[in-house]
Amino acid sequence: MKKITIKKILKNKNKKPIICLTAYSKKIAQIADKYCDIILVGDSLGMVLYGAKTTREIKIETMMLHAKTVKENAKRSLVIFDMPYKTYTNKFIAYKNAKKVMKTTKCDAIKLEGGKEIKNIIKYLVNRKIPVMGHIGLLPQTSTNFKVKGKNFLQKNKIINDAKEISTAGIFAMVVECVIESLAKKITKIVNVPTIGIGASRFCDGQILVTDDMLGLTDCSPRFVKRYKNLSKEVEAGIKNYAHDVKTRKFPFTKNVYK
Ligand code: KIV
Repeated sequence: MKKITIKKILKNKNKKPIICLTAYSKKIAQIADKYCDIILVGDSLGMVLYGAKTTREIKIETMMLHAKTVKENAKRSLVIFDMPYKTYTNKFIAYKNAKKVMKTTKCDAIKLEGGKEIKNIIKYLVNRKIPVMGHIGLLPQTSTNFKVKGKNFLQKNKIINDAKEISTAGIFAMVVECVIESLAKKITKIVNVPTIGIGASRFCDGQILVTDDMLGLTDCSPRFVKRYKNLSKEVEAGIKNYAHDVKTRKFPFTKNVYK
């Protein structure tokens, strides 16, 4: 088992698709670790696990508890901590929070959402040895319009410019979220770091999904999510059976009882 490094992720650009998923818990981390290059402890956990309406509500302390468990249980993959909303409002706040995150969770890198406006924060962190993954296109922490990006000229140019600015600032990879295919293709071609797409076409260097979405554990079903399993249905069947067995005094069975 060879640990995936940032160097290896960079090397994979134009060579091997980079496989990424989110994880917030021990078991998912252990399973994802067998197949993924990158595991992201995404701030989506606020919505997925805690029922928040947006990703803005999750606290850094809560994220760190989950990230610590994920990191302890993912021995091979690169584990990335998604810095929550308002934890990187300037370079000093970003560094203070990122340093604490890296020390407490032992994650391999952090992820920041934003383009040109955060390039100085990225530079500051990278210069202080905190590896940063970027995130452009649709930005869930600050977006008010959750629609596909890059359909008009101005938007397209802004996203291309963001991609260039953050890659020269020192990120080692970037998530490209919900942009039209031709734009994802163009960005992937012009930047020298891997692009990780979510709703951004197969032309990206890698792909990421929220694990709970693709396993059918959430009600989130945008076009870009392929449902590989319907675990909600399976969990319900199991719980229904259990309830029935308890009600009819079938459970516990003889084999579940100590004599
Ligand atoms: O929070 C998250 O899970 C993410 C991914 C969707 C990229 O940022």
